[in-house]
Amino acid sequence: MYRTRRLRKTENIRRLVRETKLSVDDLIYPLFIEEGENIEAEIVSMPGIKRFSLDRVSKELDEVVALHIPAVLLFGVPSKKDEEGSETWNDKGIIQETIRFIKKNYPNLYIITDVCFCEYTSHGHCGIILDNDVDNDATLVNIAKQSISHVKAGADMIAPSGMMDGTIAMIREALDNKGFMNIPIMAYSVKYASAYYGPFRDAVDSAPSFGDRRTYQMDAANRDEAMRKATFDDAEGADILMVKPALSYLDIIRDLKNNFDRPIACYNVSGEYAMIKAAGEKGWINEEKVMMESLRSMKRAGAAIIITYFAKDVAKILLNR
Ligand code: PBG
Ligand code: ZN
Repeated sequence: MYRTRRLRKTENIRRLVRETKLSVDDLIYPLFIEEGENIEAEIVSMPGIKRFSLDRVSKELDEVVALHIPAVLLFGVPSKKDEEGSETWNDKGIIQETIRFIKKNYPNLYIITDVCFCEYTSHGHCGIILDNDVDNDATLVNIAKQSISHVKAGADMIAPSGMMDGTIAMIREALDNKGFMNIPIMAYSVKYASAYYGPFRDAVDSAPSFGDRRTYQMDAANRDEAMRKATFDDAEGADILMVKPALSYLDIIRDLKNNFDRPIACYNVSGEYAMIKAAGEKGWINEEKVMMESLRSMKRAGAAIIITYFAKDVAKILLNR
């Protein structure tokens, strides 16, 4: 009889045959930076995660660097919003100032910026509104402006999250024309219209004031469409393809891994984080083990990179091994 249990006998043999290993090298830590002073605000539905003003964020960044987390993903919370989200391309805006601050004080930390408008628009949608919907092509023009502004401030990589068609081609051309041909783009290629984003929208005040995002984010029922969307981003020059959320979409991560010769990233989103934290706090699950198991499943599915609010928690566990 072939006995599969032979290779499970002890931890040492299990280590030898283990197929998937989580590493600190895989992790990107999202950071929320709010315009203003003296802000260190707990996000109620995301225990352990805070919004910081620039003058208070150093301790957090010290920790990220000490834990060897390679990169942060920046989200800005501006003090003023308008119809277009024009603060996003203000060279003195909150994200631009944050990039300069990090580059100056933490020169080895890799900076990725979220490129979108929902935290900056008065209506909370991811672009310019025309006839009660986001106007794709008008928004593209502003996406290019925002991207250039981030890169001029020193961003190492940009990650457009708005799901407008033609985003990657637009940004690639804009960056190349300005001499930024070496700045990579991480495409939110397959981003679903998901209820798992709830805690994030509370955190950065970006919930749409009318309607929802289903005309630009993908229908959660669709798998073939994910391939179609990733195919376009790939052809337009995306350097990394991302799937978001992660845990309910592991099949999509694997599809992309099998079909594209690009590093695949996934976004372990706020709702996924909140569920594990909440059940852990109640003592209903072993928080640490469930966290490790769910992140490992994303790697097993094919993600090379995991964007996660758990990054510091995971890093602490891995470094203490
Ligand atoms: C929107 C955006 C979302 C997230 C980050 N940027 C989703 C949304 O509000 O539709 C969600 C991240 C998370 O839930 O952790 N551009
Ligand atoms: Zn958005």
